[in-house]
Amino acid sequence: MKLSSRLQNDRRKVDAALRRFLPLPQSVPLTVRRAMAYSLFPGGKRLRPILAITACRALGGRVADVLPAAAAIEMIHTYSLIHDDLPALDNDDLRRGRATSHRVFGEAMAILAGDALLTHAFQIAASYPGGLRLAGRKVRAIRLLSRAAGVTGMIGGQVMDLEAEGRPYSYGTLLRIHRDKTGALISAAAQIGGIMAGGRPTDLRALHVYGDGVGLAFQIVDDILDLEGDPHRLGKTVGKDPRARKATFPALLGIAESRRRAEEAVQHAGRALARFGRRGRPLAALARFIVERVS
Ligand code: IPE
Ligand code: IPE
Ligand code: MG
Ligand code: MG
Ligand code: MG
Repeated sequence: MKLSSRLQNDRRKVDAALRRFLPLPQSVPLTVRRAMAYSLFPGGKRLRPILAITACRALGGRVADVLPAAAAIEMIHTYSLIHDDLPALDNDDLRRGRATSHRVFGEAMAILAGDALLTHAFQIAASYPGGLRLAGRKVRAIRLLSRAAGVTGMIGGQVMDLEAEGRPYSYGTLLRIHRDKTGALISAAAQIGGIMAGGRPTDLRALHVYGDGVGLAFQIVDDILDLEGDPHRLGKTVGKDPRARKATFPALLGIAESRRRAEEAVQHAGRALARFGRRGRPLAALARFIVERVS
């Protein structure tokens, strides 16, 4: 199957799972549920859950087994965007082609909708698939997800991102910021796909290397798109990183060298897939898509 059709198919599965796993309307206050749904739908590229699904398939796993964790990852990602856009962080008005959550629902509700998505994600990842069959895999997936989303991953990266604003920084610091704020959750998505498929330690190590490469490339490209991207296609305001004096690859190395580093990271990711043979091809195509994307 071609990558574009596969992306479309998997996206539909992710959207259906997100709808299914949203809290029931009668069980929670209406406003916060509306704010959660507003940020989740129609949503963005859904790359993280698609990565989890693709990795699960590459290891011969069942998509149904990974879908709850994949939806949980997208909920955590969406919460991170809501909070990233808050006035106290990046102060953005536009996200996924629409007004940001705090613009529509107010800051307090945006903060709470983010909190709700983060917490609900773990409820879903722990509860589904139900029964004991996958209990061990679920615990491992949740352990990895919490490490990647928390202060040892994404939140730690967000802290360093804010603290680096307007200050001199080394290449090592920049690499750490990008790996933690963005790479950690992306890498976790790939590995969780492998865990839910029941992958062996060597397979999981390969997915780890693959995920780290793809995750770094992803944020380098995000930095480049802030300078060169089309705001309509991106659905977010461009040119914000230089204004906020953010630590980015293009600011430190220039655009051409940043592209080269993104390419290098994707090549590194691709080499880790050799052990999967033909089954690894969709993961390789996804890595290529990530480095060539325009939105
Ligand atoms: C944007 O992520 C935020 C970063 C971590 C760079 P995406 O580019 O995946 O955003 P959506 O989900 O497609 O909107
Ligand atoms: C976002 O990085 C990282 C997280 C949301 C964790 P950015 O701040 O560069 O993402 P955009 O450009 O606002 O999407
Ligand atoms: Mg940010
Ligand atoms: Mg931002
Ligand atoms: Mg950015």
